[in-house]
Order: sequence, then structure tokens, then C-alpha cells
Amino acid sequence: MLKYRDGLAAMPTYDVVERPWKIKINANECNLNLPPLVEERVLSRLSRVAFNRYPNEEYDLLREQIAAAYNLTKENILLGSGSSEIIEKLFYSFGGRDGTIVYPRPSFSMYGIYAKAAESRGIAVDLAEDYAFDADKFVNAVNDNKATLAVICNPNNPTGTGIPLAAIERVAQNIDCALLLDEAYMEFYGESASELLTKYPHLIVARTFSKAYGLAAARVGYMLAAKDIVSTVEKSYMPYHLNVLSVATADIVYQMRYEYGPRIDQLIAETERLSAELKKLPGVTVYPSVTNFVLVRYAKAVELNEELAAQGIGVRSFNKTPRLENCLRISMGTREENDIWLKAVQDFVAREA
Ligand SMILES: Cc1ncc(COP(=O)(O)O)c(C=O)c1O
Repeated sequence: MLKYRDGLAAMPTYDVVERPWKIKINANECNLNLPPLVEERVLSRLSRVAFNRYPNEEYDLLREQIAAAYNLTKENILLGSGSSEIIEKLFYSFGGRDGTIVYPRPSFSMYGIYAKAAESRGIAVDLAEDYAFDADKFVNAVNDNKATLAVICNPNNPTGTGIPLAAIERVAQNIDCALLLDEAYMEFYGESASELLTKYPHLIVARTFSKAYGLAAARVGYMLAAKDIVSTVEKSYMPYHLNVLSVATADIVYQMRYEYGPRIDQLIAETERLSAELKKLPGVTVYPSVTNFVLVRYAKAVELNEELAAQGIGVRSFNKTPRLENCLRISMGTREENDIWLKAVQDFVAREA
């Protein structure tokens, strides 16, 4: 008889429907692989890896490099297996049975799951009808519930909404617990809270290589925070939690991050172009996005999703998720891919009108 720990069997799973899509635009990934120059350098770097050694030096090189970009030191940087590991460990570190973790809704669905895994109380604070973030409402929820960790996703997934830095600062000023800014899509927006780090020692910023830098397969993320937060959260990690292949790859990608400027600009332009096209369609509501994806609401979203799937186009359907009923989230692909899925959506809406 297998006896699992309490609550594990009842835990929700991260629900992604995967198949070999012709056009895969369901996970906010980058649809282009490494830029050729970067690929060349990565392969050359990997050929020099000491496979027989635990990776210490490589962690430090990447931490030093990231720290320098933010005027910090390597003691302010913690690496993770994707920002997922960072977020999970922060929930663990600030959670526990006496912990309360407050986050917005709708937002990244894993927050609720990580709160449960950390055996903490998870409190979801509703965004406004148009998904705008209300700093005062959030602050009140954090303080009234005596939260031990507050989480804000900026820009927010899956709504695509950007939260102004002034609103983030208002929260930082008025709460008395750790404040995590999940900035997975920040490269598309630009208003990072990292500049507030020295002013607010309870602030933590999580970033990832998975989205703008197209390194989802390598699983590398990092957080920026005060030294004592980094050294304490680090205790929750197993030793050598990141493999050297991923760290060395991220190191080269970060050195060459300026190579990614044109493709980031292109993704921003595509988000704007596709949002404008979708807005022309009757019955389709398009939420303003400052990311590489767009959220739309449409009464026949379920049927539209089925039609797209039949054509080999995978988007993220939220179906009956509270606050996201009849919503589809579509990540930007290449320009050619975007033209194909847009035509499929236009044809469907025209047929149903
Ligand atoms: C808001 C947000 N945070 C964190 C993550 C985790 O990304 P990763 O673990 O690949 O860094 C995602 C992935 O979709 C995300 O959307």
C-alpha cells in the first residue's frame, strides 16, 4: 500500500495540452531557436565543459555577469532551474503552515499550486474587470491577511497587462513582508522593479531565460534580492541543482543578449499588429498586451479553439477557468505563423457572424 504525504494526490496538475502542433503558440515560448552567432559560441563553449566536475565556477561566472548588469554583486543573485524553481523555493521559504501568500487573480496558475505545495494559505486578489491592478486593494489584502509573501506578476500572464512602476512602489512602501515580482516577460515591457531593489530590501525580482531569450529547454532563471534573502533561500536548494550545460549556455546567451534586441522588437511589433487585426473582428475582445502574447475573449472560444486544433494550431484555452471564461491566449510566432493563425481566426469569425 503506497502512502503519499497528505494532500499530494489531491494537488492540481499544471494543465497543458500538448501534441505535435504545426504551429505551437500555447506556452509563450520563442518560436525561433538560437541566433546563429550565439549557437556557434554555445557549441564551442559546451565542447570545453568539464563533465567530471560539479559546477561551482560556472554558477559564479553567470551570477557575476548578471550582477554587473544591475550594479549588484553575485551575492545578490540566485540561479534556478527556470524561474519556476525560484518561485517554488520562495513559496517554500516564506510559506509553511503559518505562511500566507497573496497573489493576483487571474495570474500565473502555478502560484496557487506552489502555495498548496508549501502548505500555506493562498489568497487570490481579484484584478479589476479589465484586469487592471489596484495597488491599494492588493496592499489591504496583504496587510489584512498578515501575509508572509506577496507576489505580483508583471507584466501579468495570462492577461498581458503591464503594471506601472509607481503602483509596484506603492505596494512595496505599504507592506511589511517579502514582495516577489515575477518578471518573466519584462524584456517585452521594460519597466522592471529591479531599479527599486536598493531602496526596498524586502523586494525580490525573478527573471527567466525561457521567454525573450528562447532558452526554455535549458531551464534557467534567476532572482535578484538582498544578500540575506539570497543566502537564506539558497538553503532550500539541493546542492548543484542546475546542470553545467544549461548554466554555460545561459552564460553565453547573457553575454550576447544584444543579439536578441531585433527579435524582441519584432515580437513586440507582432503583438501590436496582431492585436490591432483581432480588434477588427466582431465579438472579439482583445486585452492590451505588453508581452509576446495576447489574450482574447470570444463567445465561441471553445469552438474556435477546436477549429484551430483541427488545423494543427495549438493555442492556450482557458475555457471555464474563473475570470477567464471564453478566453484564449495566443503567443506570437514568426510573422508567417502569425499570418496563418490570424487567417484561421478571421475565417472562423466570418463564418459564425
Ligand atoms: C509568469 C510566469 N512566471 C514564471 C514562468 C516560469 O518560466 P520558467 O520556469 O521557464 O522560467 C512562466 C512560464 O510560463 C510564467 O508565465
